Amino acid sequence: MTEKTMQEIISFCKRKGFVYPSSLIYGGMANSWDLGPMGTELVENIKRAWWDRFVRGRSDMVGVKTALIMNPSVWKASGHLDGFSDPLVECKKCHTRHRADHLVSESEWKELESKLEGVEDKEKFMRENLPACPGCGESDFTAPRDFNLMFKTYVGPVENEDSVAYLRPETAQGMFVNFQNVLTSSRKNIPFGIAQIGKAFRNEITPKNYIFRSREFEQMEIEYFIEKPKEDKDWQEHFDYWRKEMWEWIDFLGIKRENVEENDIPEIELAHYSKKTIDFEYRYPFGVKELYGLAYRTDFDLRNHEKESGENMKYRDPKTGEEYWPHVIEPTFGVERTLLAVIVEAYEKEELEEGDSRVVLRLPFALSPVKVAVMPLMKNKEELVGKAKEIQEKLLPSFTCDYDETGSIGKRYRRQDEVGTPLCVTVDFDTLEDDTVTIRERDSMKQVRVKVDELKEKVEEVIEKGSL
Ligand code: GAP
Repeated sequence: MTEKTMQEIISFCKRKGFVYPSSLIYGGMANSWDLGPMGTELVENIKRAWWDRFVRGRSDMVGVKTALIMNPSVWKASGHLDGFSDPLVECKKCHTRHRADHLVSESEWKELESKLEGVEDKEKFMRENLPACPGCGESDFTAPRDFNLMFKTYVGPVENEDSVAYLRPETAQGMFVNFQNVLTSSRKNIPFGIAQIGKAFRNEITPKNYIFRSREFEQMEIEYFIEKPKEDKDWQEHFDYWRKEMWEWIDFLGIKRENVEENDIPEIELAHYSKKTIDFEYRYPFGVKELYGLAYRTDFDLRNHEKESGENMKYRDPKTGEEYWPHVIEPTFGVERTLLAVIVEAYEKEELEEGDSRVVLRLPFALSPVKVAVMPLMKNKEELVGKAKEIQEKLLPSFTCDYDETGSIGKRYRRQDEVGTPLCVTVDFDTLEDDTVTIRERDSMKQVRVKVDELKEKVEEVIEKGSL
């Protein structure tokens, strides 16, 4: 792990078409990123697998797709307009802006913040308690101010207070405001969950670490509604169940457990809606940082939406007739952070025999952007090329299937290894005689001969099994 640097990962991702800096022909757009062909396929595979696992494969879960721009009252009720901010300080020497709670640890900052109110000379207090500016090494900061992370915009042609709206900072609220709609249309009983995959926007003060912290990102979130707990163990059982589910998802991604740590967030650092949160932190090359979160949101959201909207947000128990605001367990997964962790984990430089080496992306086969690459042994032999293209056409409806005729077979294998393609199929002169091809597997580099007629089933079997 230690030998994988971010520089190496970033350049690999650009070169192979996973992630590009956005708007590059205009000099780029700081901290905005585009997905290339490989990144798009990989992300689609991650999202599809997540959806199949947590939504389609379960009878207690339904999915929604809600608006990115919602009524601003949503954000008043959810607490985001008042409380979704980070402490911003500016260095008076080099004018760089920083999150005070990143200059020291979050707990240390909460401690400082609690003392700050009574302090008269706040800048002096900052000078004495914050470390030097990472930009210039001086220690001369402004007093902190709360910087709201909501992305503000105006709806319609007039830009005034009445037309202010916000891009959603989390997908969660779309699920809360539709709680009654979903109940009515899907006839679910508690416990059940609503899930959604979609974009979220945050005007981060210091987006950094490549795609790890950006202003526009995607979330895969579940709001799991449970009975009003009579005692702590009632919600803790659900919390522990989801904690286990999240670990199993991490296993599925091919991320080794030794590279992920649970961080039980101290009470002082909890988000305004949470009674308990565990972060799953991955060992990225730039440090151990949050990959996913699991929160117990209590009945905070439904209760506040009822208060703000005047609409009934309660659940009526069909057996007892009791009405209550369900409590919520929220497993939340960032798509870009998953993408980055999966690539970092899978990226390997492997020394082979006789001084040879290769870069191989050891993705779980189910996630690989290209499942199979078909190659004619030689590109100037019409019969080989024709046969290879015919095989590609046969496989394409079922798998992402690349065709590659450039360079030696060895070079072509290496090219596919680099993007994580599980299988390469070579069409040679024997193919023309006996209608068989060679299948070569990425990890073991093992090769077997297979009949063209049986190829589709063989590829299917190997992808399913995860090895040849
Ligand atoms: N609904 C709860 C919620 O939004 P969060 O911890 O603020 O909780 C959930 O965000 C997940 O979204 C995080 O675990 C992370 O994976 C991802 N995420 C949050 N901020 C991000 C950012 N600026 N860039 C990329 N991903 C981010």
